[in-house]
Parts: sequence; structure tokens; C-alpha cells
Amino acid sequence: MLITRCHSPISHRGITLIFIVATVFLLTLLAKREHNKGTRQYELPFDLGIAISAQDGFHAVKPCASELDYLRRKEYGLTRNIIFRKRCFRGVYSPDANLRNSVSEVESPLLGSRVDILDLDDQCRKVSSSYSPDQTASCEPITLQVAEPFPVADFSKVIFGVATTLSRLKDSIPQFSHWMSGTGAIFLAIVVDESVADDDLDSLESMYNSHDISLTAIRPWNCSFDVNEQHFAIIRDLVDYSTHETQWAVIIDDDTFFPSPYSITQLLAAHDPTVPTYIGGLSESPGAVEYFGFMAYGGAGIFMSMPLLQQLDSHVDDCLAESLTREGDGLLNNCIRNYTQTELTAIPGLHQLDMRGDLSGFYESGALPLSLHHWKSWHQAPVDKMAKIADFCGDCFLQRWRFDGNSVLANGYSISVYEDGISQADLGLIEGTWEAAMGYEGTMGKMRDKLEGTKKKSYRLIDAEEVDGNLRQVFVHHGASDLDYDGEEEAMDEVVEIWWEWTRE
Ligand SMILES: *[C@@H]1O[C@H](CO)[C@@H](O)[C@H](O)[C@H]1NC(C)=O
Ligand SMILES: *[C@@H]1O[C@H](CO)[C@@H](O)[C@H](O)[C@H]1NC(C)=O
Repeated sequence: MLITRCHSPISHRGITLIFIVATVFLLTLLAKREHNKGTRQYELPFDLGIAISAQDGFHAVKPCASELDYLRRKEYGLTRNIIFRKRCFRGVYSPDANLRNSVSEVESPLLGSRVDILDLDDQCRKVSSSYSPDQTASCEPITLQVAEPFPVADFSKVIFGVATTLSRLKDSIPQFSHWMSGTGAIFLAIVVDESVADDDLDSLESMYNSHDISLTAIRPWNCSFDVNEQHFAIIRDLVDYSTHETQWAVIIDDDTFFPSPYSITQLLAAHDPTVPTYIGGLSESPGAVEYFGFMAYGGAGIFMSMPLLQQLDSHVDDCLAESLTREGDGLLNNCIRNYTQTELTAIPGLHQLDMRGDLSGFYESGALPLSLHHWKSWHQAPVDKMAKIADFCGDCFLQRWRFDGNSVLANGYSISVYEDGISQADLGLIEGTWEAAMGYEGTMGKMRDKLEGTKKKSYRLIDAEEVDGNLRQVFVHHGASDLDYDGEEEAMDEVVEIWWEWTRE
């Protein structure tokens, strides 16, 4: 079928631009305020090998030994002096399939008493240390039982569709790569910018291809639709760009993230692609479900069998004309209800994440989510870095271990140190950390109160990187210390490096 593609001249760009400029300005002001509190380094716009700090003014920066130099990365934005700990884990692959049904106990402490204070501008020199210098290199590993990596996901019978802007598609490559690279998926992107050149579409496709993702980037078939409507109108394109092989079509948002693509193939394998099938996740928010209805929420990922898609194809225009709802997922749900007999299969692990604020209680709950959403808007979470661990031990992402009765590793997300320890019973409950969390008990499970103040100290993952087959995870707690004993606390970040090696025994 040939669809004429549009080039709409209408411009909302000006407004968007002003908004962006204002936002950047405000963020810069906030960042500056943050910086003023301490001696954050790297404030000069270019890397000239010099830095400026309150103590020393301009000074030459001397790089660190290779195993520590990563700490000086600009994107980490760490304070010049940091409190540093390194812990080593040996992940031993275990055939026990029930590893994550409970929180495993480890007798040794997770953080321990050994602490180094490093000056990142001066060769990571130890400003002070609770240990003698020769003990720096040794890092006696703690053995943890982990699951084998999952097989590579096969999405060769799946087409994924998204509608968003060119720039957001570029920004999202690391996250899409995590779950789509090398899977054989067809990825169709409707680029909704008012004007976009053929060259831009081509270069976007090349960028994705270089990450082993087969992207087709096209313009909408009708530019009058807004981006929400495009998420429904894409049905016609998904039908056009599917092949005889295609069994499933999945509509996603540009911030839909699947931590474990193999788990998604397992979900699909449990359903019949030869009959009309509609699979998705409800919003966790009881208010949202009451207001928008019982349907597959778009951010969690909406999975449809090709027979359902074909039934909808001829009704896309009617549904666009009739529906009062203009949200893509609502349009789709209404259209399915009005024109097919298909009922929603709601899957609890598919997460729309309609929660705001601090979602640590969710990420630390021990559940392995099938999808994540809103991780760069309603809350902040570096999901691709978090889920990096899943490349090494499939089922271990967000698996928990309790060390010495008081510290918990939620693998890939955080290290939590509980002042009064934490019981296994409490670890069975979700900590209600986000806004109005207690209202979510009915949809998410039993909760406990958020721990305030010094009761819980959290180190959050900011990076994860493979180094010669090992994995380095970096966790940070933004804190303050009085390093020069002048009675005033200065910002000083605490960094915990976790170094994973892997063995089969
Ligand atoms: C595009 O959408 C507008 C508004 O919904 C509609 O009036 C117009 O007929 C549509 N054009 C095509 C080619 O379908
Ligand atoms: C579905 O049918 C109802 C009732 O006839 C109508 O109000 C609604 O607009 C229709 N929705 C769609 C998407 O067709």
C-alpha cells in the first residue's frame, strides 16, 4: 500500500525552543548552586588539564592510575575529594533456579570499615586512609551465587513501533540498544518533527544500524495528528512494514525500557500469535485506572498479535474520527473494544510507572520488572546502566543480598545501609518512597513507611561498564565531610566501586 507522507509547515518550534532555553538556564542556575556548596571539580568548560577550586584556585590536574582514572569522568560530576571504597564480588553461576525468591544472606560486611579519601585532581592521591598503602591493590572477593546469563533474545518475528522526534530518537540509542541490538527486531519510528530532511532520516537509520538495530524512520501518513494520536495511527504503518514472518507488533513510548529482552520473548511465547491478542500493563496508579480506564498503558509497552492488528487496520480512520480520547493508548483501547472481541491480558510486570519522586522503594523491592517507563521524566534512573548486570547474570538484575544484617545490595540500583539493621520481614514489604505511595498498596503490594533521615543511607548506581569481561558498577552517595577540620562541612561524594568477576564451579 502506498501512503502519501506529509510535510506540514506549522511551527511549534519557537515555543519549544524558548521552553528548552528557559529550562537549560534554570538547570544551570541550580547546578551552580549545587556546586557552590562544595569543591566540585571540572567547572571549566574545556578540558585544558587545569581545574579551579576554592582551596587552590587554578591548579594543574594530574591523572590517576588506570584502575582509578574513570573516577575523573566529567559526567560523574564528583567532588574533587571523594570517600572511596572498592568491593570485589565473584559471581558463581548456580543451577538453582530459585535464587531470587529470597534475600540471600552474606556474613561479611558490604562496605566495611576501610575508607580512603582520594584527591581526584592529584593522581587520586590518598589524602587519608584507614589502611596502609600496600593494601590498596588487594580486593578479596566475596562469593555470590548468581544465575547464568539469559540466551540472546530472538525478536525476528516482532515489529516495534514508536512515534517521537528525531532528537529523542538519537538520545535514546543507548537504552534501545540494551534490549534491541542483535535481536533481529524490525524497528519502525514515526518521526514527528514538523520538518525533517531525508538525509536526517537516513543518518538516523545508519546510527541505529551501527548498533545492530534495523531501524526504518518515516514521516507520519497524516501530519495533522499530534504525537499521541500518532501512537495509534502507527497501526497502519506497522501492518505495512511487517513481513510474512511477523507475529507480534509492539507499540512503545520513546522511554519504554525492557531490562531483559529474553523475558519479553518468554512472555510472548506464552501467548498465541495466531488469534487476536492484546497484552499490556495497567497503570499502577488507581486514580489513573479509574480515570483513563482498564487498558494497556502505552509506556509499559502494548503487545498485539498480527491478527488483531489486521482487524484494526481498516478501522483506524473511524476510530480517529470517533474517539473522544486523544491519547494513543486510549484510542487503541477504544478501537479494540468497539471493533473487535479481544480482551486485554494484563501483565503485572509490565510497568507504566505512573509514580513521581523517589522510586527507590520500587527498584529495591526485589521484583524483576518486564518493562520500565518515565525513568527520565517523572523520576530519574539510569536504566541502561542499571540493567547492564543482566548481560552477565540474567536473572540477577535487582536481585537482593543482605550483608551483615544491615546493608542491602539491590543489584544494579543501590546499596542501602540501615542504621538499625533491616529484617527479612521488612524486606518483604515495599518501602513507600514515592509521592502518596500508600495509595498504591492495592496495585503494587504491601508497603512499609519510608525511612527518614539517618535511618537509611543510600548509594545509587551512576554507571556500569564492562572491563575485560568483568563488570564495574559505580555507586555514589552525595554527602559532606569536614576534611580540613575547620568546623565546616564541604561537599564530599562517597563512591563505592563494585568489581564483578565471573566463574563456573
Ligand atoms: C488528516 O487528519 C485530518 C485531521 O484529523 C483530517 O481532516 C484529514 O482528512 C486527514 N488527511 C488524510 C489524508 O487522511
Ligand atoms: C466507541 O463507541 C462508543 C459508543 O458507540 C463511542 O462513543 C466511541 O467514540 C467509540 N470509540 C471509538 C474509538 O471508536
